[in-house]
Amino acid sequence: MSSTLSDSGNGGDWAGDRDALADILAFHLEAGVDVALGEEPVDRFAESQAARAAPPAAPDSPRRTAPEGAAPGDAAPAPRRAPMPAPAIAAPASPPPPDVAALEAREAAASAPDLDALRALLERFEGCPLKHTATRLVFADGTPSARLMLVGEAPGRDEDIEGKPFVGRSGKLLDRMLAAIGIDRTSAYIANVVPWRPPGNRTPTPQETAICLPFIRRQIELANPDLLVCLGGPAAQTLLGLRDGITKGRGRWVEYDTGSRTIPALATFHPAYLLRTPLGKRMAWRDMLAIEDRLAQKPSGGGGD
Ligand code: URA
Repeated sequence: MSSTLSDSGNGGDWAGDRDALADILAFHLEAGVDVALGEEPVDRFAESQAARAAPPAAPDSPRRTAPEGAAPGDAAPAPRRAPMPAPAIAAPASPPPPDVAALEAREAAASAPDLDALRALLERFEGCPLKHTATRLVFADGTPSARLMLVGEAPGRDEDIEGKPFVGRSGKLLDRMLAAIGIDRTSAYIANVVPWRPPGNRTPTPQETAICLPFIRRQIELANPDLLVCLGGPAAQTLLGLRDGITKGRGRWVEYDTGSRTIPALATFHPAYLLRTPLGKRMAWRDMLAIEDRLAQKPSGGGGD
């Protein structure tokens, strides 16, 4: 959830009152507000007070007159409270229905001749409602020509702020996992199925995923890695069609058709899962060794293996 933080409206002076400010921030965080949408605070209390004080009659609304026969000075019935003014934040134009958006996404993604063009198309794409709640597009990190491409589910809060995938706590663990097999971010290419952060880090809906899918598929095709690794069940379901849960389906090489060639692909645990479930690290370690082993082999010319 996001919000503009506004003054409490009680006329109090918060300057210097760090505890009170910290309490307000903690309250907002607990309520799910973790992003400020505007640079300037908006005082909604002042807005509603102004609305109440405003003259009730709109220019084209029927005038209230005293009933016929009433004595001069008899008041007409009290006006209703004026409606709340529209929020100061402009509502985004409503996105097309999901099936239309998915079609537009397919056409747009297919038209991208390279990764820069794909990123530019995504920046302009209006079909995914997540774009309007996210701070920015989180396209990729690392080296597009790397032999290894890793794909997660969707950016979280830290990624939304920095504009790069896997930079928060789970990203730090991913860095350590890669380092254990002698790889760093510059020798891999990292992206997500959904390139905008879902509000409050919720799971992307099937519609949002379907709309974003043509873009990540094209991104993989254009990056043209030798190995694809899906981080976590959702990415593996979406890209590899994994039906079993990740615990059963991880660690198995499958073939992925990029559109131009077939490459080996593997699902492993999402680092966020490993942070919650350290026991899984043993199996993730095996997957990392399998990745290292594959990278040591000569790339397959294009027919998969
Ligand atoms: N989780 C993901 O799936 N992707 C990120 O970029 C960060 C966290």
